[in-house]
Amino acid sequence: MKTIRLALWLLVVLSPWACSHEGPDPLDQQLLQTIGNPDHYILPESHEFDKIPQSPHNPLTREKIALGNLLFFEPVFANEAKNFNNRFTFTCSSCHVPESGFRPGRMQGIADGGYGFGLHGEKRIKHPVYPSDSIDAQGARPLATLNVAFVENTMWNGSFGSEGKNTGTEAVWGKTDPGTARNHERLGALEGQNIEGLIVHRMNFTRQIVEDAGYKEMFDKAFPDIPESERYSRKTASFAISAYLRSLTTSQAPFQRWLRGDHAAMTDQEKEGAKLFFGKASCVSCHFEKNLGSMTFAALGVDDLFEHGGLKTSINDARNRGRGGFTLQQEDLYKFRTPQLYNLGDSGPYFHGGSKQTLKEVVEYFNKGVPENTRVPKEQLHPFLSPLNLSPQEVDALTAFLSNGLRDPNLLRYKPQRVLSGMCFPNNDPLSKSDMGCF
Ligand code: HEC
Ligand code: HEC
Repeated sequence: MKTIRLALWLLVVLSPWACSHEGPDPLDQQLLQTIGNPDHYILPESHEFDKIPQSPHNPLTREKIALGNLLFFEPVFANEAKNFNNRFTFTCSSCHVPESGFRPGRMQGIADGGYGFGLHGEKRIKHPVYPSDSIDAQGARPLATLNVAFVENTMWNGSFGSEGKNTGTEAVWGKTDPGTARNHERLGALEGQNIEGLIVHRMNFTRQIVEDAGYKEMFDKAFPDIPESERYSRKTASFAISAYLRSLTTSQAPFQRWLRGDHAAMTDQEKEGAKLFFGKASCVSCHFEKNLGSMTFAALGVDDLFEHGGLKTSINDARNRGRGGFTLQQEDLYKFRTPQLYNLGDSGPYFHGGSKQTLKEVVEYFNKGVPENTRVPKEQLHPFLSPLNLSPQEVDALTAFLSNGLRDPNLLRYKPQRVLSGMCFPNNDPLSKSDMGCF
């Protein structure tokens, strides 16, 4: 009798529902039901190469990722600065700062021609010796380089990559942006874009430069199959950086842990927000890929960057025209790619023109459903832009899901301790060095 009672007691205590008398949490069940197939949204860990989309021309290897990781943060290759004294002072991470969710920590990114850093990029300003039109800055809010393996055609206008949405657009490659002629080489979207990126951001790689900087061995290990005469170039640097970028997944975000079965990873409010995202508020109708972005282009009628103090941009910037600025098709005008949504809380502002300071303002904009940019013709606007009728509590829940549920708290695992040159990074100008305490 005693043993039976003990067995029964053990059964109760050890059963998965032991801590709750009502069975599994109804909120988790509702959310699972709303999401449908949770596996679809699970992001791979950075070492799960077989689960990360990649270019057949550039398969992922640990050696490439290790090299790309350093190159992304290494000022010694910033050797084509407009002003001689500004050489070796900036990097890709001047604009894609890990502490700021791989965005700049301020509205616009500035690499060459920028000065200072602050704590996470928020204090970078234009260098006084540079005229505004010679700094390296673009007329759109920088996209994060997180979860970018899941982007088939990169940039706000999807202009890079020869496949996916760009199939059939060959005639415009290289037209408004000469860099997009690179699509003809049919490398991966990232591989092609980043070769151009190294040119635009004033960085160069030759055998001599790579050797002097101490990176030859790492290039040799990463590219043993490429003949030595071609092994040290912007192309191989781009391949290594692209491999590194593909490894940047936000797999430790609370929502990711929840999807993997740790139902305590999100608060009830975040779960309510997720329910709205995948349900009533229908955010998922555009934000439906693993990275919670997609290749859906939509005009949401938001302002452009020149209206919010952006340097080196204007009302005539082709970037303001979105997809249409690339395809030159009327029907694509003012439509922008649906961006990924992880770690946005690390750094505002939001939208391609940086018109919203907080994620709550973004949710309120969608809730109101009234366009703010009068240059976007009504017929271009996506019908989603109409009132959602969310209550103030629902707005707060959706905001909590975006800012905390989708925030990987450990992005610093993707930042190296040091680069081979020993220089200060993301930036190496005197003010940045003093901001960061580098000596
Ligand atoms: C001066 C700031 C700046 C620097 C420096 C910079 N970027 Fe960017 N990056 C941007 C901006 C702005 C965008 C979005 C531009 C657009 O879509 O019109 C962007 C977009 C990207 C994207 C596309 C992401 C996506 O989802 O489509 C990738 C990849 C990228 N950058 C990689 C790099 C690499 C690699 C480097 C270094 C070679 C670099 N960036 C340096 C500002 C910068
Ligand atoms: C019709 C497609 C569509 C729907 C539906 C949609 N989005 Fe988006 N979302 C986009 C596009 C496109 C952008 C970029 C717009 C721009 O900057 O011009 C965007 C931008 C955002 C941004 C800013 C990202 C950044 O990097 O600045 C957030 C946050 C966001 N959406 C959240 C949501 C939420 C929450 C919902 C549901 C209430 C939602 N979206 C519904 C297409 C959509």
